[in-house]
Amino acid sequence: LSHDFHGGISASDPMPCSPPQTLSTRRQLYERDFPLYQRPVEIGCFSLDMKRRFFNDARQLRYYVEPEHHPNFSLRDGYRDRYVKRDDGVKERIDHILRWILANRSKLRPSETAAASSPPRVLGVEFVTWRGHLTKLLTTPYETREGWLLAVTRLHGTLYVSEVETEAARQERQTRTARHQEMMYWGYKFEQYTCAATAGGRPDQGGVVNTNEAFCTVVRTQLASHRLLFSGEVDCRDPHPSAPPAPFCYLELKTSAEICTPKQRSNFHRYKLLKWWAQSFLPGVPRIIAGFRDDDGVVVSVETYETSKISQLIKNEYNCWKPTVCMNFCSEFLSFVKTVVREDNPRVVYLFSWEPHREVSYSIHRDTDHCFLPDWYVKEITS
Ligand code: A3P
Ligand code: MG
Ligand code: MG
Repeated sequence: LSHDFHGGISASDPMPCSPPQTLSTRRQLYERDFPLYQRPVEIGCFSLDMKRRFFNDARQLRYYVEPEHHPNFSLRDGYRDRYVKRDDGVKERIDHILRWILANRSKLRPSETAAASSPPRVLGVEFVTWRGHLTKLLTTPYETREGWLLAVTRLHGTLYVSEVETEAARQERQTRTARHQEMMYWGYKFEQYTCAATAGGRPDQGGVVNTNEAFCTVVRTQLASHRLLFSGEVDCRDPHPSAPPAPFCYLELKTSAEICTPKQRSNFHRYKLLKWWAQSFLPGVPRIIAGFRDDDGVVVSVETYETSKISQLIKNEYNCWKPTVCMNFCSEFLSFVKTVVREDNPRVVYLFSWEPHREVSYSIHRDTDHCFLPDWYVKEITS
């Protein structure tokens, strides 16, 4: 597949009816009006317990507890003796979302009118994926370090999108320094300091941090003409009874190195706030609570960022990222996928790949290890 096109979707293919081969990620191509992005609607949720078992309910949802003004949380506490780490060598792909779909099929049938006017789709959505995969798409026009691989399969008209670990990501995962491994714990420890299991409860700072546990929201929304269903892990909710309904009561928790110099502030705005914004904007999470920590993992301050105000906050940075570029690129990528992925077959995977400074390209895989829709899902959804 060629990489020498500079337009949006390349039109250089000799066959007039065959789909384009590549998609450009150049920012300038996506600087136009912000596309339609429908207010996300929560259509369900699920929980993963301490052993990563699936439950079709909110049992793992936690409640935010505001820290004191100078919290002094030590994020290193418990790393050696009170940490159960999820096995990130186990590839779950989109299985949990598929489980949720099977448990909630009645909520997902297309409405009578939609079913009559468009080809029958089992789910009434065109794309099913993780929020995290969409976050990667949003940040692609600005990413200079890490590429991605996204596997797509069409089944009964719905496009299922599941990430495949790149060789570089696997290498990185298997060669992390001890320091890096410990720092990956810090974010979860901050969650423990700021969350309780019940609305009136207190954080259990002496408890075990188990990263198998998760609460995930499932939302439906529309980006331009694309109807999406995706799920994303949610850290906690506003415990106040008058908080808005989900997903607008949810809060994202983050940790970050404390900012001491103008250069550090600029980098924070350019790189970190882009990722934070993309992650929370997609499911409609309105606020991000950031714990700023020193090099010893002690939280020295806590600040709240309103997701909708982040793009204003960064406007003074020279040549900074723009939400419209992120959303327009994502929308174009989904259009590209729709034109490329024609064969409706659970045994066929279209593998889209991207590396920084390249264009998005794809390859087709039939009956290989890339197949990711499990038999139990295909059987049940087809019946
Ligand atoms: P922080 O990002 O606050 O440090 P999330 O913020 O998405 O809820 O993720 C929770 C925590 O998981 C992160 O907290 C971090 O500690 C860890 N984490 C998530 N993604 C990671 C990644 N790609 N590499 C390393 N750690 C990661
Ligand atoms: Mg989280
Ligand atoms: Mg978080």
